[in-house]
Amino acid sequence: MKKTLKDIDVRNKKVIVRCDFNVPLDDDGNITDDTRIVGALPTIEYLLAENASIILMSHLGRPKGEANPKYSLAPVAADISKKIGREVIFKSVPEVVNAEVKEIAAGLKSGEVLLLENTRFRKEEEKNGEDFAKELSDLAEVFVNDAFGAAHRAHSSTAGISAYLPTVSGFLIEKELNFLGHALENPARPFVAIMGGSKVSDKIKVIESLLSKADTLLIGGGMMFTFLKAEGLEVGKSILDEEGLELAGQLIKLAREKGVTLLLPVDVKAADAFDNDSPADIYSIDEIPADRMGLDIGPKTAELFASEIASSGTVLWNGPMGVFELPNFAAGTKAVAEAMAANEKAVTIIGGGDSAAAVSQFGLADRMSHVSTGGGASLEFIENGTLPCIEVIADK
Ligand code: 3PG
Repeated sequence: MKKTLKDIDVRNKKVIVRCDFNVPLDDDGNITDDTRIVGALPTIEYLLAENASIILMSHLGRPKGEANPKYSLAPVAADISKKIGREVIFKSVPEVVNAEVKEIAAGLKSGEVLLLENTRFRKEEEKNGEDFAKELSDLAEVFVNDAFGAAHRAHSSTAGISAYLPTVSGFLIEKELNFLGHALENPARPFVAIMGGSKVSDKIKVIESLLSKADTLLIGGGMMFTFLKAEGLEVGKSILDEEGLELAGQLIKLAREKGVTLLLPVDVKAADAFDNDSPADIYSIDEIPADRMGLDIGPKTAELFASEIASSGTVLWNGPMGVFELPNFAAGTKAVAEAMAANEKAVTIIGGGDSAAAVSQFGLADRMSHVSTGGGASLEFIENGTLPCIEVIADK
């Protein structure tokens, strides 16, 4: 068990908190999904109640070690300020920490909040540079890591800093570990895992790991065609991961050896082109026409998957079933989300990324036990059972 905020005295202390405020912005710099900011609020509010002075930090996007206004955390500062009902001091300086920021941090009073500029404006950040980690640590007395979404990246602000300060997890990381950890270590059974997304080769290790834990594995999304092809079927113009073809065959074999029920789609919705308005029809998987591409699972598959979900004790879902961004190919993804929402007895976990976006688009996020704030992080957690930035948090 990792130490959390509650295991350390933060009263009246100066606390630096790493969050994952890597939120999507539109062209005008408006935040289009604030889930990650909302996720950080319990930690921030607890620290305020403890009269701590708070220094928040995060990355945003991939500015590649250079200050770039497009990736400034200014919109995030304004949003947090609105949410917590008090000023968030923000100095947009390319160095992230400079003499002025040091002075503000040193003079920060109880209940005051400072947000640093995007940590990735500094080249050292992604190299886990020691000097930058030390500079950040010098601003505070305690380090709270609450950036689950970035916990698979050992950077100065997520991992390196812990060498210089007592390190505990925030409440978001605690919650993520409770749900994901429990699902992997001691799931209520049957444990149904659902995988989608396009490339098998990207998710091979995750699928391998799930085959040692889950009772049933449902495969949908673009990767289904690689599995179907590995089973000797023709998939027309559907997306195919050539690199993953052999791996898919091996995974089917491994599932059989381990006694895991691996279910592939029985029908698909296929169109002439990758276009919402393209003519499309439902085909059994052995009848996909050579000139059409599958863009969603079909209704029989949706029913099959929904019935597996209905009788499950735990469901873990990563990757959409089809191109849910196009309304005509969203039915399969929606059916899975609805089946999860309807099984109120099961622990239902959304593994971040596109599936999190999908349940939010369908208005079903609140009906899940947990929607992870980490896409890449939750996949790596499923694969390895831990993450580099979780490892640096002190044990209880
Ligand atoms: C994410 O969005 O997955 C995290 O914030 C990590 O971002 P990165 O993939 O740019 O490191």
